[in-house]
Amino acid sequence: MIKSPLFTIGSITLSAYLFLVGSSLASEAYDADTYGPENPLVWEKTNKVVFSHKVHTMDAEIECSSCHDDLFGMESGTDMNSDKVTMKAMEEGQFCGACHDGDTAFGVNTNCQACHVLPDDPLIWDSPGKAVFSHTAHVEEFGFECATCHSEIFSMKKGTALANKDFTMASLKEGKYCGICHDGDSAFNVVSQCESCHFPPTEKIIFTQPVKAVIFDHDIHLKKGKLSCVSCHKDVFVMKKGSFEGQQLIQSENPAEKRKYLEDLHNKYCGTCHNSSQAFGYLTRCTVCHVGVKGLEQKTGGDKKEDAHGKAQH
Ligand code: HEC
Ligand code: HEC
Ligand code: HEC
Ligand code: HEC
Ligand code: HEC
Ligand code: HEC
Ligand code: HEC
Ligand code: HEC
Ligand code: HEC
Repeated sequence: MIKSPLFTIGSITLSAYLFLVGSSLASEAYDADTYGPENPLVWEKTNKVVFSHKVHTMDAEIECSSCHDDLFGMESGTDMNSDKVTMKAMEEGQFCGACHDGDTAFGVNTNCQACHVLPDDPLIWDSPGKAVFSHTAHVEEFGFECATCHSEIFSMKKGTALANKDFTMASLKEGKYCGICHDGDSAFNVVSQCESCHFPPTEKIIFTQPVKAVIFDHDIHLKKGKLSCVSCHKDVFVMKKGSFEGQQLIQSENPAEKRKYLEDLHNKYCGTCHNSSQAFGYLTRCTVCHVGVKGLEQKTGGDKKEDAHGKAQH
C-alpha cells in the first residue's frame, strides 16, 4: 500500500504527552542539593544530547567527585560545548566514555537513543521537493539501528545532506542516501511511489507569463483526475515551480511559426493529457486554463469568499 506522509503525524502528539506525564511524576521527591541540578542538561553543539544528573547521582549513586571536576567542570556548556567532546573521543574513554564503555555503563557505540533525542517526526526538508522522512517508522516499525544511517549515510543534523548539493533523485537512483535501501529490493524503489516521500503542494500554481494567466491545481488533478505523481513528474514536469514556464520565448512574428510554437508548447506540457482523449483538449477550451486577470482574482483572492458567502447572499 502507498502510505501518505500524513499517516505518520498522528502518533507524535501521543508520545509527547506520555513524555510530559512521565517526567512530571518522576520529578517529585527530588533534592537538588544532594543530587545536582534537577532538569536534564541539553547540548546542541552538533545535535541534541541530554544528560540527567538524577539518573547518575540518585539512581546510579555516583558521587559528584566521580565527574567533577576531572571529567567535567560544573558550568553547563564549558566542556560539553567544546570541540573536544566527540563520539571518537568518547569511544577512546574520555568524557561520558570514561564510564560508557560497555562495562561500567552501556557503551557509547550502542544505545544511541538514550543520549540522542529523536527529532520531531516527520522530518520535512525545506526544499521545493518537500521530501519527508519518519524516524519513528524506520526505527520502531522497521527496526533499524541509529548507527545504520548515522553517520555513514546521514549526519545527525537536518539539512546536511541538502547542503551537499547531491541530495537529489539522480543520486538516490544511483543508490546513494535513501537509495541505499530504496532500490526496489530492501525497500520500495525511489522511482515509484513519489507520494510516499513527497507532499503535493496545497497552493495553486499560477503561471503568469502569458497575457492570460494559467492556474494549475494539484488538488483537482489528484482527486477528480485520480492521477498519481508519476503521471506528470516522471517525464513532463519537474517538481519545482517555474521549471517549464518561459523556457522558450516566441522568437518569430511569422503567424505560422508562432502557431507552431504554441502547439509545441502545449503538446509538450499540459497537452500531453489535455488532448481531448485523457482530458479536455487544450485547443477546444482555452479559457478553462487561461483564466485571465479577473479569473485569477476570483480563483485566488475571491475564491474563498465566494464559497463561504455564496449561498447565504443569494
Ligand atoms: C556522571 C557525571 C556527573 C556526576 C556524577 C555529576 N555531574 Fe554535575 N555535571 C555533569 C556534566 C556533564 C555537566 C555539564 C558540564 C558542561 O556542560 O560542560 C554538569 C554540570 C553541573 C552543574 C552546572 C549546571 C548548569 O546548568 O550550569 C552543576 C551545578 C552540577 N553539575 C552539580 C553536580 C552535583 C552537585 C553533583 C553531585 C550531587 C554532580 N553534579 C554530579 C556531570 C556529572
Ligand atoms: C553516553 C551518551 C551517548 C551515546 C550512547 C551516544 N552518543 Fe553520540 N554524542 C554524545 C555527545 C555528548 C556528543 C557531543 C555533543 C554534541 O555533538 O552535541 C555526541 C555527538 C555525536 C555526533 C556528532 C559528531 C561526532 O562524531 O561527535 C554523532 C553523529 C553521534 N553522536 C552519533 C551517535 C551514534 C550513531 C550513537 C550510537 C551508535 C551515539 N552517538 C551514541 C553522546 C552519546
Ligand atoms: C562516572 C561514570 C559515568 C559518566 C562519566 C557518565 N555516565 Fe551515564 N551512566 C552511568 C551509569 C553507571 C549509568 C546507569 C547504568 C547503565 O544504564 O548502564 C548511566 C546511565 C546513563 C543513561 C541512561 C539513562 C536512563 O534513563 O537509563 C544515559 C542517557 C547516560 N548515562 C548519559 C550520559 C552522558 C550523556 C554522559 C556524559 C555527559 C554520561 N552519561 C556520563 C555512568 C556514567
Ligand atoms: C533510515 C535512516 C535513519 C535511521 C535508522 C535514523 N536516522 Fe536520524 N536522520 C536520518 C536522516 C535522513 C536525517 C536528516 C539528515 C540530513 O538532513 O542531512 C536524520 C537526522 C537526525 C537528527 C538531526 C535532526 C535535526 O533536526 O537536526 C537526529 C538527532 C537523529 N537523526 C537521531 C537519530 C537517532 C537517535 C536514531 C536512532 C534511534 C536515528 N536518528 C536513526 C536518517 C536516519
Ligand atoms: C524514498 C523516498 C523518495 C521517493 C519514493 C521519491 N523521492 Fe524525490 N526526493 C527524496 C528526497 C529525500 C529528496 C531530497 C530532499 C528534497 O529535495 O526535498 C528528493 C528530491 C526530489 C526532487 C528535488 C531534487 C531533484 O532531484 O531535482 C524532485 C524533483 C523529486 N524528488 C521528485 C520525485 C519524483 C518525481 C518521485 C517519483 C518518481 C520521487 N521524487 C520519489 C525522496 C524520495
Ligand atoms: C537503511 C535502509 C533505509 C534507508 C537508508 C531509508 N529507508 Fe525508508 N524504508 C526502509 C524500509 C525497509 C522500509 C519499509 C519497507 C517498504 O516500505 O518498502 C522503508 C519505508 C519508508 C517509507 C514508507 C513508510 C513511512 O510511512 O514512513 C518512507 C516514506 C520512506 N521509507 C522514506 C525514506 C526516505 C525519505 C529516506 C531517506 C531520507 C529513507 N526512507 C531511507 C529502509 C530505509
Ligand atoms: C497533472 C499533473 C501533475 C500531477 C499529477 C502532480 N503534479 Fe506536482 N506539479 C505539476 C506542475 C505543472 C507543477 C509546476 C511545474 C513548473 O512550474 O514547472 C508541479 C509542481 C510540484 C511541486 C513543486 C512546487 C513548488 O512550489 O516548487 C511539488 C513539490 C509537486 N509538484 C509535488 C507533487 C506530488 C507529491 C504529486 C503527487 C501526489 C504531484 N505533484 C502530482 C503537475 C502535477
Ligand atoms: C497527466 C495528465 C494531465 C496533465 C499533464 C495535466 N492535466 Fe489537467 N486534467 C487532467 C485530468 C484527467 C482532468 C480531469 C478531467 C477533465 O476535466 O477533463 C484535468 C482537469 C483540468 C482542469 C479542469 C479543472 C476543473 O475545474 O474541473 C484544468 C483547469 C486543468 N486540468 C489544467 C491543467 C494545466 C494548466 C495543466 C498543465 C500545467 C494540466 N492541466 C496538465 C489531466 C492532466
Ligand atoms: C490545459 C491548459 C491549457 C489550455 C486548455 C490552453 N493553454 Fe495556453 N498555456 C498553458 C500553459 C500552462 C502555458 C504556459 C504558461 C507560461 O509559460 O507561463 C500556456 C501558454 C500559452 C501562451 C503563451 C506562450 C508563451 O510563450 O508565453 C499562449 C499565447 C497560449 N497559451 C494560448 C492558448 C490558446 C489560444 C489556447 C486555446 C486554443 C490555449 N492556450 C489553451 C495552458 C493551457
